[in-house]
Amino acid sequence: MKQNIVILGMQWGDEGKGKIVDVLTRTANYVVRYHGGHNAGHTLVVNNKKIILHLVPSGILHNHVICLLGNGVVISPQGLIDEINMLSGLGISLDGRLFISHHCPLILSYHIKMDILREHLLDTQCIGTTKKGIGPAYEDKVSRFGLQVRDLYKESVLREKLKRIVDYYNFQFVHYYKSTPVNYDTILEELLLSKKVFKNRTKDIALLLQKAEYENKKIIFEGAQGALLDLDHGTFPYVTSSNSTIGGIFTGSGARLQQVHFILGIVKAYCTRVGSGPFPTELTDLTDDYFVKVGKEFGSTTGRRRRTGWLDLVLLKRMVILNSISSLCLTKLDVLDGLSEIKVCIAYKNLHTDQVIKNPFSCLNWDEFKPVYHILTGWNKSIKGITIFSQLPFLAQQYISYIEHYIGHGVSIDMISTGPDRLDTIIVRDTFNIEYI
Ligand code: IMP
Repeated sequence: MKQNIVILGMQWGDEGKGKIVDVLTRTANYVVRYHGGHNAGHTLVVNNKKIILHLVPSGILHNHVICLLGNGVVISPQGLIDEINMLSGLGISLDGRLFISHHCPLILSYHIKMDILREHLLDTQCIGTTKKGIGPAYEDKVSRFGLQVRDLYKESVLREKLKRIVDYYNFQFVHYYKSTPVNYDTILEELLLSKKVFKNRTKDIALLLQKAEYENKKIIFEGAQGALLDLDHGTFPYVTSSNSTIGGIFTGSGARLQQVHFILGIVKAYCTRVGSGPFPTELTDLTDDYFVKVGKEFGSTTGRRRRTGWLDLVLLKRMVILNSISSLCLTKLDVLDGLSEIKVCIAYKNLHTDQVIKNPFSCLNWDEFKPVYHILTGWNKSIKGITIFSQLPFLAQQYISYIEHYIGHGVSIDMISTGPDRLDTIIVRDTFNIEYI
């Protein structure tokens, strides 16, 4: 039985993964996050109420679900406290339902300060990070220098380690960045105060997952960001600092290969990106304004206006293959309702030589290429809230078939989102066995 499902964003994040996790969680026992931190923003609409989650897995809204944060997740203690308080305010209790790996790296104020100073120094070359300290926190992990959740439990070691780290950061802040130092005592106090949030929640997540496998429990692995923001396979250096592609699951949670049964790629019906970096199909005309307005394309973590563009099938196909995608879920299809024509990128052309290429990752300079488009006719009527595939206008069905045909490899679009609510969903084929209806 295809029991455990991975949810992976196929673009630059903000594909609408939160809603899909929420929909699929109806029949799940566990939801696991395995990379990223509170840079993520998963927006859910339940009973017309908008809820944005950054760190806690989207499955938390279902009372029967246990949520896990694997070792690959970087945790801001303050971010976690804020989110737990927000959820408690909504009457959602996390007691016995949220567990965190001992090995999660901690994000502290010096990471955030470093993130901000670096971006400032890079000026026009900046990455456009969320300024949440994500990159510096992962750097401290890789250099085997940073604090992990388990360090909170040994106060003498914590004091000593923190001293070394703060001295190291302050040297850079003062001497290289000509900025002010951070205060050791303040950070220590915050850390000691945050200890209670982790109490009774810290667990060996890899072991919990093994137990879940033994008990035949259903697990959803919730990806954050998108495959094109992956540190190793994305549009480097304009990426995040974790692995948002499939491999991140194993290193970031300790799940076994055999525990991954179905990989659902989430793709928005057009493209968006926040921050800097290559975006071949980017629009700067009225259609951009249309996507931003109708698609409400503002970052849920930073509030920034997202850059928008046409669906890029070249990049999508690469990510579908690279991530061993089983099937796709197309989101925000209803946003295209008001367009008379819809473009999709099917290749790239060199601006100087007219050479057509299908692998932009092999070129040194993305600016030398422009997209080659296939143009489809828009359906020009509302599909919002449609739940049955055959009720979609013929031209919308054609758009879906075109994408499937281009991607090939037997990967079909098995789920379609036609609005923000849980219920605005078409299950085209229940290949993932969710027994949704
Ligand atoms: P960082 O993850 O804050 O270091 O930011 C690196 C890049 O990833 C920036 O372009 C961010 O805008 C982008 N990014 C990080 N998290 C998300 C997300 O959840 N959705 C979309 N973009 C993101």
